[in-house]
Amino acid sequence: MTPDSGTLLLHPDRNLALELVRATEAAAIRAVPFIGKGDKNGADGAAVDAMRKFLGTVDFDGVVVIGEGEKDKAPMLFNGEHVGTGNGPACDIAVDPIDGTSLPAAGRQNAISRIAVADRGTMLDASSVFYMDKLVAGGEGVGVLDIRAPIGDNIREYAKAKGKPIGEIVVAVLDRPRHEQLIEDIRATGAGTRLMLDGDVAGGINAALYGTRIDICAGIGGSPEGVATACAIKAVGGFIQTRLAPSSDEERARGLEAGLKFDYVYEADELVSSDNTFFVATGVTDGGLVRGVRRLGPIIRTESIVLRSYSRTIRRVEADHLAEKWLD
Ligand code: FBP
Repeated sequence: MTPDSGTLLLHPDRNLALELVRATEAAAIRAVPFIGKGDKNGADGAAVDAMRKFLGTVDFDGVVVIGEGEKDKAPMLFNGEHVGTGNGPACDIAVDPIDGTSLPAAGRQNAISRIAVADRGTMLDASSVFYMDKLVAGGEGVGVLDIRAPIGDNIREYAKAKGKPIGEIVVAVLDRPRHEQLIEDIRATGAGTRLMLDGDVAGGINAALYGTRIDICAGIGGSPEGVATACAIKAVGGFIQTRLAPSSDEERARGLEAGLKFDYVYEADELVSSDNTFFVATGVTDGGLVRGVRRLGPIIRTESIVLRSYSRTIRRVEADHLAEKWLD
């Protein structure tokens, strides 16, 4: 699905990307007063409100296909919620005003605000199953990596494909008890781990980008995050495969009813079938992908990343906002 000159009005175009970044910037800035104050829902609520307000001014007809909050009952933009002015391209959106909700509350690093957008009807609605197993890497992984293979084999093959010694390969994994064996298996190859408290979207994107310290991102994380990651991976030309990881028979049954497939490998094109995807993220607290919000005298500085699959562009946007405009 490629936009051409006759259908530009129907598809999200390049201008949308810079409009979306205003919404993630606003969400990140609004979360700042809560950093380190221990109020997880306060930070998330402020970010949700700011993002909803800014999205309301953007000329597009967005439907939240994948919100967040259901898994841990946080404030949220609801699945099925319409966002935007309603004029302009019809889009699916996957949104998380703060990915890594508890990070800013604790004063920890790596929290981002993010939005992914694609043509309407093209994002997989995996909301009935909270978790998926994911394997994300750079473009060298295409045709080389396979989520069904043992992680050790994948690391060895990927190291060869990248021309890098195994001892220099770094695999990002969410630091969870469920990953004990995975972590052991990674280290047994001689590769290193980067254990993340939260935020496997940023981990996945960092794995796919050049010039970062992460080569692969592996393990079980949120399904919404998997679809959002796929939107970004299509823009950077990386590798992603996922498999749904239901936590119970009831969840599996709900997934089957919703038409989801189990014991099945979802490739990038099934997670999001559009080739016209956008992904924007702004740092809330400092992280490997983007720096967090900083106050510099009268200025609030934000750092964002803006990815667009159609043009395969990766933009880094640093913005200075007049602090007095944000005081209320
Ligand atoms: P939230 O933004 O909902 O807090 O999600 C953070 C996150 O770390 C995701 O990046 C990740 O995919 C998921 O939670 C992992 O889930 P869990 O914390 O339940 O292991």
